[in-house]
Amino acid sequence: MPGKKVCIVGSGNWGSAISKIIGQNVKRSNRFDPIVNMWVFEEMINDRKLTEIINMEHENVKYLPGHKLPKNVVAVPEIVEAMAGADIFIFVIPHQFIGRLCDQMKPHIKAGAMGISLIKGIDEGPEGLKLISEIIREKLEIEVCVLMGANIANEVADEKFCETTIGAKNKQHGQIFKELLQTPHFRITVVAESDTVELCGALKNIVAVGAGFCDGLGFGDNTKAAVIRLGLMEMVAFTRIFSQGDVSSATFLESCGVADLITTCYGGRNRKVAEAFVTTSKSIEELEAEMLNGQKLQGPQTSAEVYKILKKKDMINKFPLFASVCEICFHDRPVKDFITCLQNHPEHM
Ligand SMILES: NC(=O)c1ccc[n+]([C@@H]2O[C@H](COP(=O)([O-])OP(=O)(O)OC[C@H]3O[C@@H](n4cnc5c(N)ncnc54)[C@H](O)[C@@H]3O)[C@@H](O)[C@H]2O)c1
Repeated sequence: MPGKKVCIVGSGNWGSAISKIIGQNVKRSNRFDPIVNMWVFEEMINDRKLTEIINMEHENVKYLPGHKLPKNVVAVPEIVEAMAGADIFIFVIPHQFIGRLCDQMKPHIKAGAMGISLIKGIDEGPEGLKLISEIIREKLEIEVCVLMGANIANEVADEKFCETTIGAKNKQHGQIFKELLQTPHFRITVVAESDTVELCGALKNIVAVGAGFCDGLGFGDNTKAAVIRLGLMEMVAFTRIFSQGDVSSATFLESCGVADLITTCYGGRNRKVAEAFVTTSKSIEELEAEMLNGQKLQGPQTSAEVYKILKKKDMINKFPLFASVCEICFHDRPVKDFITCLQNHPEHM
């Protein structure tokens, strides 16, 4: 039987790091086709196409400089060409682009294809919360797992040991993705509570913005620990209220929960930009453009989506950390109020 063909949809910092793992793993297993297409949003870098640079020099010089990608990972600028014959899709693009891309993919999806989303974010639909995996599931009519964890892309690319979590409603698919993605440096636990895993990945980015505010304001490690704890309480409460599936405390103890929350509140781009937001007084949009070289921020946008959902349900007061991050980023609320919100948090009342 021919091996399953894998297509990576996305080629930013995380997409490129995961392509290193996938390119190596498909060569080791006869379950997968040894050639992996990677869809690349085409850009010109010093008068050369990014796809051409990746295919000739095997390096994504813009989003993961300094790392060689396996030669069997082929950069393709057209999504329809990249996905031709694919059985397995790895979705790894900033969440704001997923809907439009799925619309382009829909007519070309192979029967029986499956996907996994590495995308951290949420959307706000007419009925409230909309998960990114749900958007993909509905638009492409395929089954979708998720992968979230304490996985800063550059460290994964450096093969520094870490853990991650796959959320799989379909157990068999979870095992296929584990085989495709696990390495000695990247250890995977598969759990059934896919929606909880995905919400952890999205919501922790809001908390990281709060952690960055505290750094910018000159607070210390005790304050950051409080942000992490109160942020976790809001993540759990939000997931319990808005998730359709089961929500157990144990899932928050997986890499996708506490571990990812900690790493993002210390490392990561959301914390970094939020700190600069305080120290420079520039807008989030300006800082994203200035500091991230084309990479996208997820925390502020996710806070805005969460805010709309909370407002509709009249629940802003129950989630002061999430709400104040949005109000500070987008509604001109003074950043010092973030500390006041922590001091008056319902957890202390
Ligand atoms: N970087 C990490 O450490 C990390 C770790 C875990 C999860 N994630 C998640 O992975 C997802 C992808 O992030 P990333 O770090 O790979 O990307 P990135 O932020 O590094 O790069 C942005 C990407 O968006 C692409 N892009 C720009 N405009 C576009 C458009 N109009 N349509 C489609 N694509 C466009 C760019 O070409 C680039 O590939 C995000 O949801 C992120 O939260 C990132």
